[in-house]
Amino acid sequence: MQARFITFEGGEGAGKSSNLAVVAQWLRDKGVEVITTREPGGTDYAERIRELLLQPSDEMISADTELLLVFAARAQHMAEKILPALARGCWVLSDRFTDATYAYQGGGRGLSVEKIAQLEQLVQGKVRPDLTLLFDIPVSLGMERAGKRGALDRIEQESMTFFERIRQCYLDRAAAEPARMAVLDASRTLDAVQTQLVECLEQRWEQWNV
Ligand code: TMP
Repeated sequence: MQARFITFEGGEGAGKSSNLAVVAQWLRDKGVEVITTREPGGTDYAERIRELLLQPSDEMISADTELLLVFAARAQHMAEKILPALARGCWVLSDRFTDATYAYQGGGRGLSVEKIAQLEQLVQGKVRPDLTLLFDIPVSLGMERAGKRGALDRIEQESMTFFERIRQCYLDRAAAEPARMAVLDASRTLDAVQTQLVECLEQRWEQWNV
């Protein structure tokens, strides 16, 4: 079977990372070779860009700077990790990818879809995820969960309205591309979310196998 590229998206505290581990195990049990990775980051160089993006800063960071940094990290991640893995038949699971840029830099910071799409084209060419799992959670609940994890990074320190715009942008993207994006109700218990997740995977698995 052709290797697939699956991405995990959602607001702060939506539980993407634990659910990514569930999907990785589910696929490994099916005999599939899988790597797990994340954005911004995934390679040493891209992780250094992640630090630049997320560390709190006294200096105002412009939205365009942020946009170019996430795509710089992505270009490295694609070249060094994602494309070589897919080429050798290994599935790639990424904790965030370009939908996060549309949601955070587009919905959150107000940059235009056209600007983001240009960089997407430049950095990714035709590469898009085969499946994107969107873990949707009301902002206040997600923030409460994220807050429990300790100090907030530069982006987590943004306002509630910033995160409301991000959530709406993700939901709009999912509504516009239902074949690629599946929405999971992440406000439920971890067990309930995992049940939804496994149902979704089983359905996709059948489609991918024909
Ligand atoms: P994480 O907290 O899920 O690891 O994600 C890191 C942060 O980076 C999160 O606040 C979302 C943000 N981000 C962007 O703003 N744009 C992007 O393109 C990506 C991938 C992440």
